[in-house]
Amino acid sequence: TRTPVNVTVTGAAGQIGYALLFRIASGHLLGADVPVRLRLLEIPQAVKAAEGTAMELDDCAFPLLSGIDIFDDAAKAFEGTNVALLVGARPRTKGMERGDLLEANGGIFKPQGEAINAGAADDVKVLVVGNPANTNALIAQSHAPDVPAERFTAMTRLDHNRALAQLSKKAGVSVSDIKKMTIWGNHSATQYPDIFHAEINGKNAAETVNDQNWLENDFIPTVAKRGAAIIEARGASSAASAASAAIDHVHTWVNGTAEGTWTSMAVVSDGSYGVPEGLISSFPVTTKDGKWEIVQGLEIDDFSRARIDASVNELAEERDAVRKLGLI
Ligand code: NAI
Repeated sequence: TRTPVNVTVTGAAGQIGYALLFRIASGHLLGADVPVRLRLLEIPQAVKAAEGTAMELDDCAFPLLSGIDIFDDAAKAFEGTNVALLVGARPRTKGMERGDLLEANGGIFKPQGEAINAGAADDVKVLVVGNPANTNALIAQSHAPDVPAERFTAMTRLDHNRALAQLSKKAGVSVSDIKKMTIWGNHSATQYPDIFHAEINGKNAAETVNDQNWLENDFIPTVAKRGAAIIEARGASSAASAASAAIDHVHTWVNGTAEGTWTSMAVVSDGSYGVPEGLISSFPVTTKDGKWEIVQGLEIDDFSRARIDASVNELAEERDAVRKLGLI
């Protein structure tokens, strides 16, 4: 039998945590033959709720779940971790300025980065889900100098999946007929879902749809503002779809993208496509053997360039703001 993989989940008692943990434990994160040991991190006030979730996990009798430990101390929670899902974050509350939000999250992601640096396994892979995800990932990464920077990623897979869903409805095809979807930039309303390189059954998606008005005034804003639309409809933010995207992100990272397609992940820029080096920005990426690579050589027209630049500029502003606050 294989040795269990240690998976740390922060914010384990939250709504995404509740949707995520059962799928990790049932084998959807890494594979149906990979045992997992869960390490849950919560703030002290939420440890009891996390214990309740752990009781339910026990009650599922998942054959692949080889243990659950619950912590309120980051240093312990990240000890020996192979996969770290950083979900817990400080949400934006009414009247909160961006600086306050970044500062509050710095107080979470700086010590978590330090704890990963000190105690995680050599092969650790980190996915930041908690918002502002890209910049929280940057903060954590900058406090983990001994971990290769490419191990810190942020989630734009939910945006990617939302874009697949919208395009599949418009084109009347199945999501599995669509390849090479791309989300560029920040996981925020400035993100740019790009169908100019996407393919529907092997043909260019933008040409197949051939509806610039839909693209500009329906598709892009619907994908970018989907989070707000879910809150409006459900009375709570997206949780199951976010958890599902987190599962997809890690599964693809570990098990590889299929031949002839790619996925979207926010990863540290090497300067590709004019994105300043060091920013954690969403790109089209392929993955193989647990490593990602930014897809190179795509032609970017003026329409796409302007949108990518706008989102990347926002990321640069967030980076400058956390730098000013001494968080990186
Ligand atoms: P939630 O409020 O239900 O749960 C968050 C949990 O994190 C709470 O249980 C809280 O106690 C815990 N927490 C707070 N500080 C912590 C710390 N320092 N260490 C460990 N745990 C801590 O929120 P929900 O709905 O589960 O969302 C979590 C985050 O994911 C939010 O920041 C949300 O904005 C973000 N999100 C990101 C998406 C993406 O596509 N990147 C999509 C949807 C949500």
